[in-house]
Amino acid sequence: MAKISVFGIGYVGVVAAACLARDGHQVIAVDVDPGKIAAINAGRSPIVENGLPELIQKVVAAGRLTATDDVQAAIDATEASFVAVGTPSAPDGSVGLSYVEAVCRNIGAALRNKPAFHSVVIRSTIVPGSTEKTCIPALEGASGKVAGKDFGVGYYPEFLRESTAIEDYDAPGLIVFGAMDMPTRQFLTALNEGLGCKIHAVDIRTAEMVKYTSNTWRAVKVTFANEIGNIAKASGLDGQTVMEILCSDTTVAMSKYFMRPGFAFGGSCLPKDVRALRHLAGSTGVTPHLLNAVIDANEAQIARAEAMVIDSGAKNVGFVGISFKPGTDDLRESPLAELAARLIKKGVEVDIYDPYVFEAYASRNSTAGRGNDVIPDLPSRMEGDLGRLIDRSDAILVGNFYKETVEPLTRAAEGRPVVDLTRLNRKMVSEGHYQGICW
Ligand SMILES: NC(=O)c1ccc[n+]([C@@H]2O[C@H](COP(=O)([O-])OP(=O)(O)OC[C@H]3O[C@@H](n4cnc5c(N)ncnc54)[C@H](O)[C@@H]3O)[C@@H](O)[C@H]2O)c1
Repeated sequence: MAKISVFGIGYVGVVAAACLARDGHQVIAVDVDPGKIAAINAGRSPIVENGLPELIQKVVAAGRLTATDDVQAAIDATEASFVAVGTPSAPDGSVGLSYVEAVCRNIGAALRNKPAFHSVVIRSTIVPGSTEKTCIPALEGASGKVAGKDFGVGYYPEFLRESTAIEDYDAPGLIVFGAMDMPTRQFLTALNEGLGCKIHAVDIRTAEMVKYTSNTWRAVKVTFANEIGNIAKASGLDGQTVMEILCSDTTVAMSKYFMRPGFAFGGSCLPKDVRALRHLAGSTGVTPHLLNAVIDANEAQIARAEAMVIDSGAKNVGFVGISFKPGTDDLRESPLAELAARLIKKGVEVDIYDPYVFEAYASRNSTAGRGNDVIPDLPSRMEGDLGRLIDRSDAILVGNFYKETVEPLTRAAEGRPVVDLTRLNRKMVSEGHYQGICW
């Protein structure tokens, strides 16, 4: 069992402190608020939260949780500290780091006097880069020691929801953390052992970003449900019934499908159906804020890819994929066809490898080229041989994923710009000639 100090006895800190003590750890809660310290030491919960008063009473009576404002004593008596102070919005919307920075300075000053190794784990929600740019300098400056060597640093976000905080602590949807050093990584791994969810040990910045992604996703879900509800009501329908039915689909709707960063959506259904629902909303007096943003953002993703190709300076670009997704020759509202058409208009020479569209033309299929209304000379731009396409292109645009192209395109990226909108290989990240659209 570990000895842990928790800085900040707010919603996150007090729940973590109580649950850690319940699980057998020795916990010291540290705060600047004398009322909260007195409440805990008297066995009372400083916040209203289901199940917490009983839990605090029990763990304080058992002597496993105490509270103090004495930073040095808390650091000396524990092997790791959690930082769970508030990070309120600054007036410009940026994350407010003043409390986190102040606590890190306090902890650093105490570390100066502690010879033994100690891990500092930030649990507050802070934007990517904050641990490195704010917390570590504050800790190093005050301690005179080197992070990752003389003391440990980690970032381990909390995902609990108030009102179900203890339940969420016990059954989290995910655990993610980043650690600068092995002792902190091992400490966090051991602490989370036995939980029924996946544990993601990643780099600190990724862990910071996952926390914001999670909260923003929750916010987008609320806004989406509200917008559907508003549109449904204006059409005389019960929006909650509509959303309950949608949520019953855990295969596609409520799954990882369509959740992979990449290129714009297109095809014969999504663009026209989003437009139609947006039109229905407008005609019934509902402003479809989110649907407007969806259409704008999708358009911006095409513009982003166009800028990447233009920035490469290439005059001859080989497209790998032109249909709206791999495995089909359907070109209706294909964002790749739209992208190719824009580049052609700007004077870029575009040749295209797409085995499905090529096959449709080669077999004189009557529907070949179906849905293409943006590239008039599409058949003459088709190339059936990927090697030839690579040889005559000064840049490659990877639009669709075809297994047989991975190896030759990975090699091609060594010698010329490759703009990847789908990700040829999970291990590839933007570097040198190779640029992924969102990785
Ligand atoms: N509330 C939630 O449901 C929730 C869930 C997940 C993550 N978070 C994040 O966790 C962090 C904490 O949130 P919260 O709602 O628990 O905050 P809170 O405002 O309830 O509590 C923060 C505590 O920190 C204390 N504090 C401030 N300066 C201090 C110092 N120098 N030393 C010691 N203690 C100090 C305050 O007195 C207060 O008790 C935030 O970054 C928040 O975004 C919150």
